[in-house]
Amino acid sequence: MLQIYKKTMTRSEIIELLKDNDKQLFARAVAVRDAAIGPAIYLRGLIEYSNICSKDCLYCGIRKSSESTGYTLETEQILQAAKYAVYNRYGSIVLQGGENSAPAHIDKIERIVKELSRTGLGITLSLGEQSPETYRRWFDAGATRYLLRIEASDRALYEKIHPSDHSYNSRLQALQDLREAGYQVGTGVMIGLPFQTVENLADDLLFMRDMDIDMCGMGPYIVAENTPLASHSSLLEPEERRLEMTLRMIAILRLMMPDINIAATTALQAIDPDGRLRAIDAGANVVMPNLTPTDAKSRYILYNNKPMELDMRILERNVRYGERGDSAHFGARKASK
Ligand code: 5AD
Repeated sequence: MLQIYKKTMTRSEIIELLKDNDKQLFARAVAVRDAAIGPAIYLRGLIEYSNICSKDCLYCGIRKSSESTGYTLETEQILQAAKYAVYNRYGSIVLQGGENSAPAHIDKIERIVKELSRTGLGITLSLGEQSPETYRRWFDAGATRYLLRIEASDRALYEKIHPSDHSYNSRLQALQDLREAGYQVGTGVMIGLPFQTVENLADDLLFMRDMDIDMCGMGPYIVAENTPLASHSSLLEPEERRLEMTLRMIAILRLMMPDINIAATTALQAIDPDGRLRAIDAGANVVMPNLTPTDAKSRYILYNNKPMELDMRILERNVRYGERGDSAHFGARKASK
C-alpha cells in the first residue's frame, strides 16, 4: 500500500486509495503539505454577498426557484466585515454570492472590489459564471483569486444535477477565462452526490490535476430541503461515509498537488463538529470563517444544518495571521513562465 502514496498516481491507484480505509493516508498528506508549503493554516473571511441567484442547480438551497426571501448586503455591511477581517489579521476575504450577470450587479461588484482592495486584504470572488470581460474588470479592480467549482467533472453527472440551461462546456470555458484574466483559480466538487461513483471521484482528482488548478474547495454533498435532488436521498451513502470520502479526497489531492491551497470547507462541519479540523489533519491549509452579518447568514442556506459558528479550536492551530496566503502553486507557475 505504502508505495502508492506518491505524486503521480494512476487512476486505478487513486480508486484503490479512495476505497481503502487506511488512516495513514492522512498523516502522509500532512507530511507532504508541510514539506511543500509549511504547516501554516490561512484564514479567509467569508462574506455571503447575496442569496439571489439566476441559476437553478438541483442540489442548492439558494437556487432560483427556492422560496427563501432574497437579500443583498449593503456595501457598508461588506466594508464592516472586511474591517473585522483586517482587525483580526485574517489576510484575505472571499466575497461569495448567487450568480447574477445584470450590468448593475457587475458594476456594483466592481465598485465594492475597488473599495475592498484599499484594505490590503487579498480578495477572492465566488460569484459564478461571468463573461471574460467581467472577470477582467473585477480583476483590474483588485480581486486576485476566483472560486468556481466544476461541481462534478463527469459531464453526464454534471448534467444530471443541473437544469438544462446549464452547460458543462461553459463552465470549462469560464475556468479557462479566469486563468487568462490572471486569477489564481480554484475549483472543486461535491462528494457523495446521488449517482456519483468512486470512479467519478478519481476522475475529479485527475481533472483538477490536468487543469493545474491553484486552489481547491470540496465538501460533502448535504441534502438541501425542497430541492429536486433531495428526492434521491435514498441513493445516498450515510453522512459519515460522505465525510470520510471528502477527507480522503483532500488527502489524495494533497499528495497529487503538494503546493496548492486546499480549503477545509464549512460543509464538513455540518456533518461533524470536528469536520474542518479533521480536514486540516488530512492536508487542508485554508479555513474560511464566516463574517456575514447574522441576519443574512441565516438566509444563505446552501444545505441543511449549515454551521453558524466557527469551531474556535481552529484558531488554536498553526494559523498564520496577517498574510494573504496566496497559492504557492500559482507563484511557482508564474515564476516558471
Ligand atoms: N451540499 C453541499 N454543497 C453544496 N453547495 C451547494 N449546494 C450544496 C449542497 N446541497 C456548494 C456548491 C457551490 C458552493 C458555493 O456550495 O458546490 O459551488
